[in-house]
Amino acid sequence: MTHKILILPGDGIGPEIVAEAVKVLECLRQEHGLDATLEYGLLGGCAVDALGAPYPEETRRQARTAAAILLGAVGGPKWEKLDRPLRAESGLLAIRADLELFANLRPALLYPQLAAASTLKPEIVAGLDILIVRELNGDVYFGQPRGIRTLDSGEREGFNTMIYRESEIERIARVAFAAARQRARRLCSVDKANALETSELWRQVVQRVAQDYPDVVLSHLYVDNAAMQLVRAPRQFDVIVTGNLFGDILSDCAAMLTGSIGMLPSASLDASGKGLYEPIHGSAPDIASQGVANPLATILSVAMLLRHTLNAPEQAERIERAVGRVLDKGLRTMDIMAPGMIPVGTQAMGDAVAAAL
Ligand code: IPM
Ligand code: MG
Repeated sequence: MTHKILILPGDGIGPEIVAEAVKVLECLRQEHGLDATLEYGLLGGCAVDALGAPYPEETRRQARTAAAILLGAVGGPKWEKLDRPLRAESGLLAIRADLELFANLRPALLYPQLAAASTLKPEIVAGLDILIVRELNGDVYFGQPRGIRTLDSGEREGFNTMIYRESEIERIARVAFAAARQRARRLCSVDKANALETSELWRQVVQRVAQDYPDVVLSHLYVDNAAMQLVRAPRQFDVIVTGNLFGDILSDCAAMLTGSIGMLPSASLDASGKGLYEPIHGSAPDIASQGVANPLATILSVAMLLRHTLNAPEQAERIERAVGRVLDKGLRTMDIMAPGMIPVGTQAMGDAVAAAL
């Protein structure tokens, strides 16, 4: 069966890094029997410019019929001042909601070759292998009511609603427990149950779901402590499950443990395993069009796409091994540069991975 993959390059460095990931896909297609067709679409600021909306109807149609979606990144100063529904990030939030991509998998894996690139001591991060399972369709990101209102006094007040239903907590908990079963069978649920009712319910539901997974060891941490533990002793973690907002914050933190946010892929999955794959870093407008961005997170997102949606784990491993070989050779983009290594740009890095394939 031919799989349709929708490519959404997006804004900023998005098109540059996606071009390198497409090289990898083309190589798998031409030389390793991957049966896929690629189609291109618009999401984010580029979609606002071309079609007047960050998640236009046309993209929506394409996304709904695609087997999987590969996204670069969206956003940039050009669209920041627009009304919120027209901002680039609104396109990303809209596609996540529209396709019900509720399960966001964000692995933070330290390549041994990059231990020195982390801002933490190598002995703290060596062997690091964490999976953050972030809920992506709920919480304060989507809760109503929300807005900025003017009080009688004339002062303005901003407000958002942190909200989770039992069913939403249960389905993300099940994804996390199932993932833990494939790994070291330890799951840490992160909440703020000492201050928030949303978290109190979160904890209760996770504990209830745990009864179906007696082989997984469940623990709970408050989010402030979890942030501290991530930089104090990150290897205590195997799988972390948490809500949308805490997951956003902790996943950036975990990313930095691995040396560079430029290395980390992600998958956002619906209940059937269909997914949107993207690097966890943003559109980095400050370095756009310079050819210096690290394409590895996007290339590794292709590996996740092959594993989770196309059911092709051997192709995924092929990509991951190729990335390892390129790092072994000493090739480094500037974000992971270290003394004695060979500096390369975006295209050279992509070419090297394709060659290593
Ligand atoms: C992420 C990003 C997004 C988020 C932004 C761009 C809305 O930070 O994917 O982590 O907060 O989810
Ligand atoms: Mg984020």
